[in-house]
Amino acid sequence: MRITRPAEDMRIPLDDIDLADTDLYIKGDAHLVWQTLRAERPVFHQVLESGIGFWAVTRREDVYRVLSDYETFSSEGGTALAMIDAPDPAAGLMMQSTDPPQHRKFREQFSKPFSPRAVPGYSDFVQSFIKQSLEPARDGEVWDVASTFVRLPMAVCAMLMGLPDEDIDPLLKLAYASLAPDDPRYSTRGAAKPTASSAHYEIMGYFGKCIAHRRKNRSDDLISFLMSIDIAGRRMTDQELLSNCLSLLLGAVVTTSHVINATIIALTEQHGGEGYWPDAMPTPAAVEEALRWASPVTHFMRRARHDTEIAGQKIAAGEAVTAWIASANRDERAFDRPYELDFERTPNRHIAFGTGPHTCLGSHLARLMLRNSFTELCAAIESFELAEKPVHLASNEIAGVVSLPLRTKFR
Ligand code: HEM
Repeated sequence: MRITRPAEDMRIPLDDIDLADTDLYIKGDAHLVWQTLRAERPVFHQVLESGIGFWAVTRREDVYRVLSDYETFSSEGGTALAMIDAPDPAAGLMMQSTDPPQHRKFREQFSKPFSPRAVPGYSDFVQSFIKQSLEPARDGEVWDVASTFVRLPMAVCAMLMGLPDEDIDPLLKLAYASLAPDDPRYSTRGAAKPTASSAHYEIMGYFGKCIAHRRKNRSDDLISFLMSIDIAGRRMTDQELLSNCLSLLLGAVVTTSHVINATIIALTEQHGGEGYWPDAMPTPAAVEEALRWASPVTHFMRRARHDTEIAGQKIAAGEAVTAWIASANRDERAFDRPYELDFERTPNRHIAFGTGPHTCLGSHLARLMLRNSFTELCAAIESFELAEKPVHLASNEIAGVVSLPLRTKFR
């Protein structure tokens, strides 16, 4: 997604706003749209070409409420705009598409490998993967940061799940096809027109084979762990296992690297074309600010369980409400100078990982990957400039960068 810095008083006509259109995120100015909505229509209604309507909330306070108030806003009807016109096949099966108390049963069990205790154990793998990935860039040629770092979370996921290295690239392609089916770079085998669900089914087919293999050959990876845990006194069904493997893969692989890409682009813009890292990088705070800045997940969706109101606007039971996290993280009511990337920002109450019961399960892991990436990039690179314009991901859900060619001066 293009990350822009609209002037404070800029607005666009409300009639021109189409939040579902993926062109908005690659050619248009989504931040101007959200700024307009926060000021003029904080609870906005849009009707899609299909005739299906949805609400969009853009202020931090309302986004926070929609994501955390699960008694009013349910996750069971699908959590992204892409799913608005079809019932979510994973409803009630996949942790992300369940509501408490069922959600709690999954979450209590799933948390162990992603907890603050477990995650530091993955640091050596992460650090050596980053060091190795930087080596080819030292030859002085133009270097595509986006295609280097996109492999990091997938490699970590493959290490945790016990997947072979040769499956990393095909799985990565499928993961992106499922989240950005409109992007021409991603197409799924066997589907004339790529769709999110055709990619989902391919990934689930892949995990089906992994599960069958582990039934005969138990190992100590994450898939075997999921097969062994107890959800309310029973093992997960195959359908639950497949849906949750899919959710973990998608959650892990399509988000983290975009924080690095968006930060690098912002640093080049901030320094008149030649970017550099601060001399003394305040790493944990810088990671939080980079998360706010990039907001890799633009929105999540919920459905009203009963009639309710948001900021005085009536919402009927069953209606879809999208909560725009990327807008909440620029809300001028919550952040001073919201369009400035400030590594020293404090306080920084961003909600890039969401909030409430579904707060990102992988947040500690994502932070570990980002801290290590920033540390290694700072140590290795003196300065950088864009060799070509970045190419953005055609998605209304993931604020992604597909290619980011840089000319880099190594230390
Ligand atoms: C910078 C990187 C990441 C960002 C910005 C991010 C963002 C988010 C957000 C906003 C949610 C809330 C979903 C909702 O409210 O419906 C979420 C949930 C989730 N994330 Fe992440 N995520 C990131 C990395 C990861 C990683 C590395 C994993 C790998 C384990 C992961 C796995 C999940 C899962 C499984 C959920 C569902 C949690 C639940 O329903 O209880 N995410 N993520």
